[in-house]
This record gives sequence, structure tokens and C-alpha cells, in this order.
Amino acid sequence: MSKVLQKAREYESVHGGRIKDSERPAFHLTPYTGWMNDPNGFSMYDGKYHMFYQYYPYKSVWGPMHWGHAVSEDLLHWENLPAALAPDMNYDKDGCFSGSAATLPDGKQLLMYTGVNKETDENGDIRELQTQCLAVGDGKDYVKFDMNPVLTAENIPEGSSRTDFRDPKIIPAKDGYYCVVGSRPADGSGQILLYHSTDGFDWKFKSILVQNKNRFGKMWECPDFFELDGKWVLLTSPQDMLPEGFEYHNGNGTLCLIGSFDEESGTFTDEINQAVDYGIDYYAPQTVLTPDGRRIMIGWMQNWDACAIRDSEEPWAGQMSIPREISIKNGRLYQWPAREVLSLRRERVLHNDVAMSGRVVLPGISGRCADIILKIRPRDPEDVYHKFSMRFAENDDFHTTISFRPREGVLKVDRKFSGSRRAIIHQRRSLVEESRDGSISLRIILDRFSTEIFVNDGASVMTCATYTDPSVDGISFFTDGEAVVDVEKYTLA
Ligand code: FRU
Repeated sequence: MSKVLQKAREYESVHGGRIKDSERPAFHLTPYTGWMNDPNGFSMYDGKYHMFYQYYPYKSVWGPMHWGHAVSEDLLHWENLPAALAPDMNYDKDGCFSGSAATLPDGKQLLMYTGVNKETDENGDIRELQTQCLAVGDGKDYVKFDMNPVLTAENIPEGSSRTDFRDPKIIPAKDGYYCVVGSRPADGSGQILLYHSTDGFDWKFKSILVQNKNRFGKMWECPDFFELDGKWVLLTSPQDMLPEGFEYHNGNGTLCLIGSFDEESGTFTDEINQAVDYGIDYYAPQTVLTPDGRRIMIGWMQNWDACAIRDSEEPWAGQMSIPREISIKNGRLYQWPAREVLSLRRERVLHNDVAMSGRVVLPGISGRCADIILKIRPRDPEDVYHKFSMRFAENDDFHTTISFRPREGVLKVDRKFSGSRRAIIHQRRSLVEESRDGSISLRIILDRFSTEIFVNDGASVMTCATYTDPSVDGISFFTDGEAVVDVEKYTLA
């Protein structure tokens, strides 16, 4: 094992152990210690789910990237394993960037990641090279392939950037493996490249799978590509987005393209585009296929533009979303908390047909780790309420609000009063056209430091991190007008 990896493993075992369970989320994955971004190598291996992640153990800020590692049987209770990769070779000395995992025919686990190497040229300018590299292991210890890197600037279409070439996601193919990689063509926007390998080691360029052509942001990061309900889905996270109505927001975003894949030519034709998440904090999702055939997605519950919400002095920064089962319905990507979440449910509190007007507090409805289902409708369909809202993580000083204005069809999450001391984005709105009549259902998953709001059976999702002290656990409702609401709440533990 290299000194760099050994040092990281020693550091995390000492410092990770010092973080109390109560200082972490109850059922969302956080780094062993220090910083976490993108999910990597999300896979099933040797009977367990493996999650690797972009990792800097030494501080709660981004730094030279390692791969952190955790395993789970139910996608909710994670066991930290020692760091899997460290930037310890010449070709990855400036970082082991995002990538994926596959199981080899001999039972070993293959990791494919981006190696980053910065060189100073004769003018003193820094040139960053990104290449694709491999490591093979047993689910805990990994050895880097001695022929690394396996994909370099020699394997990209002419005119494509040698710097922006990253995040390989391996997917199964009939005769071996495909992998999709984010790239930047000469037009400065994004494209996804498709490669093929029969053995997982010898990779050949096949095609440009799809081009952004400056439609959705610039560079496309962290692609995933899979078949779902008879269609093909490309997930990617574009940088430098421009806002488009309520669909896409400025900065780093998430994009889901639904369409068809012509395997012979290796091209994907998108028919539908939508955001994956309409909240503030969701990026770089990866999926895994479960043994029972479900496609489960987990994303980084943070946005690059809002990282400052977490104080860098905290012992950890960055968390993963809950596992979400995804499907295509009504021509859209639907998401729903994986059924494993049901196993966390404890005391049930039910209040049906509650007439709401003004402020309402309900017996038994409080807490920071909860699964809350709200079915909201107007008392009089001819006189739709103006606004319905739920405040949580609430006391006299703090609260975060989810609010719906049916007359505008706008659902909003607002963490302005959550205790944040930074001038960053604190609220985001999304359009729920189908609920302009005032009927809307929300399933809200609260953990100590996050909220994930599944709208109308999962037709859209809004995700947001909040770092209000976990002891602040009030929940209240406010209605401008008159609504009738069914409230069902479970404590999650
Ligand atoms: C996306 C990303 C990836 C890269 C990684 C570096 O969040 O920029 O493209 O591999 O983060 O940590």
C-alpha cells in the first residue's frame, strides 16, 4: 500500500471514530471524516451495496481527491471501510476523480476512475490532464492497474479537451462492457463519449453518444446511462447552466434525458429533457440495479455553488441523498424513496381531514427524523386557498419552510432562517402545474441535516440540506385561506 493511502487510512480511523453518531444524519451516508462529494462506484458486490465517494479526509473542504468507501445491506445503514484510492501515482497525483465499479468474471471488483495530473509547461502555465484509470480489488483493498492510464487524449475525438475528460461510468454490454465518459468538444459545451471493452481492461473508442451543443449548460459531468421501462436514460450534471423557467436554474444542475439508443452506431437520441431534482442540493447522481431488478439512484446532497452553507470547521461536510427508486411514467422520470425506507418507520401519527386556516400545530407532529405524508386539498374547490406551508426544524429563532401557492402552481423550499450565516442561495421554487386546483400530495423525508420532498407520487423532487441544530424539532402548518389536509407521520430511526 502506498504511503499516501496508508496515511489517509490512519487519519480517518482516528478522526472518523471521534464523530458521534448523533452528529451525523441518522440514515444518510456522510464521509468517514472530512469532505465528500460525488457518489462513485455505486454497485452491488459480494452481496453488499458498495458506495465509494469523492473524498478528502483531512479537512471539511475539497482537496486532492481520494476515494472514500462504505458498504451497506439496505442502502440506509452504512459501514465505513478504509479509503479505497489515494492520489499516489504520477498519472493521478492531483486527484482520483469520479468513476464507477463493475464485477469481473473472476469475481474481483474493477474500479474505473479519472486520474488528474497537472503539468507546468515551458511558460509556467499549468496544464491539467485527465485520463481514465483502473484498479482491481476484493471489496476492501485495491491495486492500480500497471498499464494505467487506459484512456487518454489519444482516445478522444479531434478537438475535444484534454482537461475536461472525466467520470467514467461502466455499464454492462452483451459482449463485455461499455463506459460513458464526460467530455468537452471544440464548441466549449459538453458531450458524452462511449467506449467498449470485452475484458474491462482494453478499452476502445466507439462513438460520441450524444452532444450538448450548448443546450444545457457547458461541460457535462458524471454521466450514467441505462435502460428503464423500455426507454434509455442519460443522467448527467451540467456545469454553467442558464436558468430556463422553473425547469433549470443557474450554475451546476442535474439533467435527465429520456430517449432511444441505437447500439450499432452508438448514438443516443433524446426526446425528453427535465431536471432530476428541483431543490437546491442535488448533484452527480449514480444508479445501481438491485438483485430484484429495481433501478436505485443516489446523488450528492449538495451543490457546488452552495457548499459554504457547511462550516469548514465541522468534522464532516457533504452527504448522500436517500436511495430513490426511479421509473418512467407519463413521459417523465419518477422518483420514490426506496422501499427499504419503510423499515426505518417507527411510531405512526395520523390526523385525517384536518381543516386548516391560519397557524396549526398538531399533537404528535414534531421531530427531525421523519417520513411525513401530506395530502392537501382546498376546503371549497371554488375558492382555492392562497398558500399552504409547513415549517420544520422550528423554534422561536429558526425554521425551514415548504410552501405551496396553488394559484401560481409554485412549490417553494426556503432555508433562509435555518441558521445559515452565508449569502448563498437559500430558496428555490418549482412549478407543479397539475396542482393548480389546490390538490397536492407531498412526501417529506427529514433527516437531521436534510429534507427531500417527493411531489405528487414522485413526479418531481426537491432536495435541500439544512444545518439547524438537531435539537430544534418543531413542526407547524400555516394556511392563507382554507385547506383540508391529511397528515401521516412516522418517526424514522
Ligand atoms: C463533479 C466533479 C466531477 C469530478 C469530481 C471532482 O462534482 O467535478 O466531474 O470528477 O467532481 O471531485
